[in-house]
Amino acid sequence: MRTEIAEIADGVYRLSTFVPDIAPPAGFTFNSFLVMGGEPLLFHTGLRRMFPLNREAVARIMPVESLRWIAFGHYEADECGAMNEWLAVAPGAQVAHGATGCNVSLNDMADRAPRVLANDETIALGGGKRLRYLDTPHTPHGWDAGVLYEESTGTLLCGDLFTQLGNGPALTTADIVGPAIAGEDMFQYSALSPGMGTTIRTLARLTPRTLALMHGPTFTGDGAAALGALADEYDRRVAGRLAALGLSGRSTA
Ligand SMILES: [Fe+2]
Ligand SMILES: [Fe+2]
Repeated sequence: MRTEIAEIADGVYRLSTFVPDIAPPAGFTFNSFLVMGGEPLLFHTGLRRMFPLNREAVARIMPVESLRWIAFGHYEADECGAMNEWLAVAPGAQVAHGATGCNVSLNDMADRAPRVLANDETIALGGGKRLRYLDTPHTPHGWDAGVLYEESTGTLLCGDLFTQLGNGPALTTADIVGPAIAGEDMFQYSALSPGMGTTIRTLARLTPRTLALMHGPTFTGDGAAALGALADEYDRRVAGRLAALGLSGRSTA
């Protein structure tokens, strides 16, 4: 198994590891993103057991001990399982995540105290790179869920949103909504909730040019349209579940 590297936006590298044994025959990818700058940031540590692969991949781009920030979408093994391994090899590194994740998990589980990010707070990396943190609670799953948006390149690091099967190209302009619906049908990974569509439409207002998927290719194109279509799909799913329960979703009060 090898981790492939592609620069998906200026100074933003996708580190992709394909695991054919998950959801065969299509297989499944695990992607981390390294955002370069004076203070480099890694989004998703990767699984703890994949740390040697991801460490070797980062080392092809920069000295691993230069890593400054470790961020991820939510507290889960593929997102942050190797967090403490990264903290150990990068003495100046610090985990950064939203308040819920820090209070619920990271203040205890991270070997060094995390930086707490408020909703809409930014981290300037230097070199023109600036990441905005946005809370997306329970979307697609995890009370502590959030995303990062790199403003200079218009890149939304969107974590598990748009999860799809297979090992496509690093970059695509093809539809990512259809494959995301197929991924949802297979894994049922989203915590369907009435607020989900609204949360995803909030991300669409960023009008990202690039959507960096944790499990799938990186999409370039009209990110707002793709996010809007995904929000519509989840609204339909939520309405369908409510209807199946004999509820309309509208208050009768
Ligand atoms: Fe997840
Ligand atoms: Fe994930």
